[in-house]
Amino acid sequence: MSFDLKNIISIRDFSKSDINYILNLANELEPIANSKQVCHDLDGKLLGVMFYEPSTRTRLSFETAMKRLGGDVIGFNQKQGTSIQKGEVLYDTAQIISQYSDAIVLRHDMEGAARFISNNVDVPVINAGDGAGQHPTQTLLDLYTIHKNMGGINNIKIALVGDLKYGRTVHSLVYALAMYNVEMIFIAPAELQMPPEIINDLEKMNCKFRMSKTLYDNIDDIDIIYMTRIQKERFPDAQEYNKVKGEYTLSAKNIEDSDVIVMHPLPRVDEISFDVDKLPNAMYFKQAFNGVPVRMALLDSLIEK
Ligand code: NCD
Repeated sequence: MSFDLKNIISIRDFSKSDINYILNLANELEPIANSKQVCHDLDGKLLGVMFYEPSTRTRLSFETAMKRLGGDVIGFNQKQGTSIQKGEVLYDTAQIISQYSDAIVLRHDMEGAARFISNNVDVPVINAGDGAGQHPTQTLLDLYTIHKNMGGINNIKIALVGDLKYGRTVHSLVYALAMYNVEMIFIAPAELQMPPEIINDLEKMNCKFRMSKTLYDNIDDIDIIYMTRIQKERFPDAQEYNKVKGEYTLSAKNIEDSDVIVMHPLPRVDEISFDVDKLPNAMYFKQAFNGVPVRMALLDSLIEK
């Protein structure tokens, strides 16, 4: 098996064999992610992180992944204190970071930003979220988590709940799941349902899905609930946000008699109450850890040695 992608921009660039390659390698790298073994694969290499939007897990798990592989990290996690404040454009900043580092991880509010930069620099570019567009590395760690829990990715029924309109994690995840034998239920208020162009693509891919507004009527025969945060920052109008905030909240009493696995890309606001955390169903913190071996697998595959 080999991995030939040069950049990680959209999950739609991945074949099933690319996904398998990364999930298998992530599994092999777990002892290093867990600090049980030491690795020198990326000794002397530098990762350039460019984060124009807030992040905790994505940025820190990339940094952890790079350092666990023996490499190091440069970059910024806010515009403040950089020349972006003086008016430097993304293209110019990326030219510079690409000369100082061996790969770039970019999070930006503009859809298409990572693709644009990957076409204009000489090092691999990884999309860590481009506006409401894609978040492919999150999808890979989601798939890894699903695989670990279900013994594979086929024959599962998954409910995606919350902000399906603006949520880039679900925009990525559905394209990956559509490659497998998976049944999806999109649970959202009408205003926050999956964008029509994505629905269109899923229909073309012959994928099994349906839409619903209610969460609790659907819980009994579901294997995985994937909760998401309402993406407040992407609403053009605060009143629209106020209408839908707090629409779905999962608490222990909804699921304690069930085997359903609860995932969430995090951060949570009020979608999952704290009493769920102690149930065996709660997988979201482990899911966030899985970002480390999965991002190690990506960096190890992409960065030239
Ligand atoms: C997500 C994101 O940034 O899209 N966070 C993450 O990377 N785990 C989800 C979110 O912000 O709600």
